Amino acid sequence: KPKQQENLTEDLDEFLASLPKEKGWRTPNLFLFQGFWCQPKEIRAIISTQNHFKAQDSDLILATIPKSGTTWLKALTFAIVNRNKFSVQHNNHQHPLLTHNPHELVPFLEYKLYADCNRLPNLSLLPSPRLVAIHVPFEALPDSVKTSKCKIVYICRNPFDTFVSIWHYLDKIRPKSLGPLPFEEAFDMYCRGVIGFGPYWDHMLGYWRESLETPNKVLFLRYEDMKADICDQLKKLAEFLGFPFTDEEAKEGIIEDISTLCSFQNMKDLQVNKKGKGAISNYENKDLFRKGEIGDWVNYFTPSMFERLSNVMEEKLGGSGLTF
Ligand code: A3P
Repeated sequence: KPKQQENLTEDLDEFLASLPKEKGWRTPNLFLFQGFWCQPKEIRAIISTQNHFKAQDSDLILATIPKSGTTWLKALTFAIVNRNKFSVQHNNHQHPLLTHNPHELVPFLEYKLYADCNRLPNLSLLPSPRLVAIHVPFEALPDSVKTSKCKIVYICRNPFDTFVSIWHYLDKIRPKSLGPLPFEEAFDMYCRGVIGFGPYWDHMLGYWRESLETPNKVLFLRYEDMKADICDQLKKLAEFLGFPFTDEEAKEGIIEDISTLCSFQNMKDLQVNKKGKGAISNYENKDLFRKGEIGDWVNYFTPSMFERLSNVMEEKLGGSGLTF
């Protein structure tokens, strides 16, 4: 399917006119492309990713829907995979995560590497194993990601908190010219599935089902489990990635070191994340670190909002085994 759209650079407007559209969160419109909601610039980049990215068996792909813990997962995975190159012990003041935002170290395929459709990236420059991220649903992954032996880690977060997180973030980065997007209006869009890379239930279910069918290919993590017991989840993650902790490393406290290095407070307080810009587009890095808590939604939801989103989740996720 995407091959036919190779010339989209010229024909984008015509192509977009053929797609269902809705008001956008931070662009005038979102378009329903390949079954999920997308911004025009992303559509081109996703097609380019689908056409040109050739996964290798050793690749590690982090897949998320925005605001479900992408930054955290990138940091943790980078620290695990590179721990022999970059010591994670607290006396190493040279660790790249202390001076770089995780999005700089683990690039997005569609937002970074293939963002410019006129210039394909030179992926041989990526260190091995190649560690990259993507936001698209499972179905829209490049074919080679599905057919090769590369591994996919998905992180999922309670939709109540994800909604609150994304509303705050997009409110910050939404251009002033579009005017504000009221909380209630955004909530209605979210409940109807109109959110970048959503409907969120399809996004979660796609990876959830794959993780059940091919657990060696797709690891399904939850933000809430990671907050509850990060060391336990780190062990699981490291093992899945093919970089298990040895007994000696466990004894030396390497797992705790990684969890501390990548903790919300530690990352939020770093200069690069307080003052830096541009890890994602030209936005401020500090906006990627808001509260980092479970259950902040109770401070925002009315009882009727709670009821509506609960009903949507029951209707869409009920029976799948995926619960929150
Ligand atoms: P909140 O807005 O609820 O605080 P993403 O990285 O996918 O954009 O997700 C952003 C959410 O993850 C934000 O949630 C952010 O604060 C939280 N977050 C960022 N870094 C984190 C970390 N190291 N540990 C836990 N949560 C983190």
